[in-house]
Amino acid sequence: MKRVASYVFFIVLCGFALSQPKKDRKCLREKVITFPELTISNWVKLHPNESMDLSAATVCLRFYTEQASPSPCLFSLATPSHPQDFSLRWSGDSKQYQMFIHNTQVEFKGLTFNMNQWNSVCATWDANSGLAQMFVNEVASIKKVVGTKVPFKGNPVITLGQYQTQYDGGFLQPSIFTGFIADVHVHGQVLITRQIKTYMEAKTKYKLGDYINWHNLMYTIAGSAQVEEKHQVTFYTTP
Ligand SMILES: *[C@@H]1O[C@H](CO)[C@@H](O)[C@H](O)[C@H]1NC(C)=O
Repeated sequence: MKRVASYVFFIVLCGFALSQPKKDRKCLREKVITFPELTISNWVKLHPNESMDLSAATVCLRFYTEQASPSPCLFSLATPSHPQDFSLRWSGDSKQYQMFIHNTQVEFKGLTFNMNQWNSVCATWDANSGLAQMFVNEVASIKKVVGTKVPFKGNPVITLGQYQTQYDGGFLQPSIFTGFIADVHVHGQVLITRQIKTYMEAKTKYKLGDYINWHNLMYTIAGSAQVEEKHQVTFYTTP
């Protein structure tokens, strides 16, 4: 009887361990994160080495999806003062990219969203000018003013594949992402267009993030989100 009880205990313990989010530090070069389900229990959090004190930032990533609605979120950075301190999502209704800085939203028109292909995205913002700009594949947006002109400060919670409704809180159902996300880099400055172009062309020698670096990434992964080899999930590794 005692033996049965310990078996049961063992099985319960294993089941519990499997469903627990997993924290890791890895090089994710040539890897993607697969988000296979429209559920708020699949998410990835990225853990920077330090809290933020950045007067400018550039976020670059690539995504591959067939899901253009309602509003899949690619990147969501929350701080205690702003749940959308730096967030990026696609709006299926307006067919525009939305960028949020310090909880203020701005839209960029006429940028591509190619289904079942890799899309490369970079977004920049500078606290001195308050100017934002987005780059998608080979197209640059115009520059637009958004957000109060104060630096990013505090301990961020950064998620991929989910839109955070509050600091370290819930996720918004219509903004769940399904598909693949790769090559996420966060820089503490505005990259120059030549550096962004190199990233877009997926040249191997592009600049790696100095705040979040995909090639040396501390992350937590939960639910059925998983890390896979890029060449095993899509035909072309270049966009
Ligand atoms: C974070 O710290 C680790 C370990 O010291 C280091 O290897 C890595 O390059 C750092 N990451 C960034 C983005 O600076």
